[in-house]
Amino acid sequence: MQEKLAVKSLYLHYPFCRHLCNYCDFYKNVPKSEADVDNFEVLLSAMFKAHDEKFSELAYEWADLETLYIGGGTPSLWGERGASKLSELLGEYDINLSQNAEFTLEVNPGSWTEESLLAWQNLGVNRFSLGIQALDSTFIKLLDRVHNIDDVYTTLAKFSEIKANFSVDFMLGLPFSEKYNRNILKELDEILSYSPKHISLYILTVKDHYIHAKDLPDDEYIEKEYMEVSNYLQSKGFLHYEVSNFALEGHESKHNKEYWKMNSVAAIGPSATGFLKEEKFRYKWKVKSAEIVEERLTEDELFLEEVYMGLRINDGLSLNKFSESEFSTIAKEWSERDLATLEDNKVKLNSKGFLILGSLMDELFLRLKNKF
Ligand SMILES: C[S@@+](CC[C@H](N)C(=O)[O-])C[C@H]1O[C@@H](n2cnc3c(N)ncnc32)[C@H](O)[C@@H]1O
Ligand code: SF4
Repeated sequence: MQEKLAVKSLYLHYPFCRHLCNYCDFYKNVPKSEADVDNFEVLLSAMFKAHDEKFSELAYEWADLETLYIGGGTPSLWGERGASKLSELLGEYDINLSQNAEFTLEVNPGSWTEESLLAWQNLGVNRFSLGIQALDSTFIKLLDRVHNIDDVYTTLAKFSEIKANFSVDFMLGLPFSEKYNRNILKELDEILSYSPKHISLYILTVKDHYIHAKDLPDDEYIEKEYMEVSNYLQSKGFLHYEVSNFALEGHESKHNKEYWKMNSVAAIGPSATGFLKEEKFRYKWKVKSAEIVEERLTEDELFLEEVYMGLRINDGLSLNKFSESEFSTIAKEWSERDLATLEDNKVKLNSKGFLILGSLMDELFLRLKNKF
């Protein structure tokens, strides 16, 4: 019998929110009634079944999960019924959590209850990812969030009380930042007083028709903000370990590292995307039926993604990945330009390098044309 390949990471997408923030491009809806959530759960069950069939076809199986991530949408709204439904589905498909599994739930301020947090913890959730985005009423409103600043403080106080291990999502490059003189370090300082172990820092990225498209700060302002936040978090003991992520020692996101290392991560839920490494198999779930859109990466596509991902994290990209000696020359130049360090035959970008990753990739393309 053919030996099966084991997958130890799973992402699950919950596609509902209380309100749709006007900058957001993730797949989500506001449920019109409980029936929408019922229908989602029926769809999710069908997706677990279809996923199992795909696993059999490709000779994969579940290992005890090392990482499980429930994202959205606003999965904290799914509440106790979500914890119970997921428990049922994991049981049905014999999916277990390993003893040290990292199990993350995204939580929105104002979209959780005490009972639901407890139900998720009882299921094994040991990490929360809290979508704060900004800690200033003006910017929370400008961002079209449904929560207010008191909801944020209530959540932070709750996390403190239950000694939760949590990460914070935070955004920069917000509209009118200059006009209203956003004091981003003051906001962060306040957040740090509640002891998050991890911060994800995203630059607001929007489509052309975004309502505040013309009110966004320019690149120079955003670069200054990014470097200020990075330096500040590093001064507080956080490691800038990925383009958008900072962690205290030992608290890097295990789940996201699997993506950046291009390892297999299964995914279930409307719009969720998974990857099976050995088969170079990427799949994306349709949103209304338990069907996937499949794609097999070519060697070249895989190589390109591995280079891009390798540069995103501070583990670095091995110079051995390239047969061309030109890459060593380029890496040396990056180090001389103070964008990277060269260590153990690996190039590791620093914060300045992370900031201009896109243009560094362009530079690689141009100079190693025959490789890409
Ligand atoms: C999958 S979203 C969902 C999290 C949660 N629903 C919330 O909004 O807090 C995860 C994170 O992506 C970031 N994000 C969402 N839309 C973004 C955008 N247009 N540009 C930059 N970051 C974005 C936010 O920081 C958000 O917390
Ligand atoms: S709450 Fe999060 S997922 Fe929902 S619309 Fe807002 S940004 Fe998007």
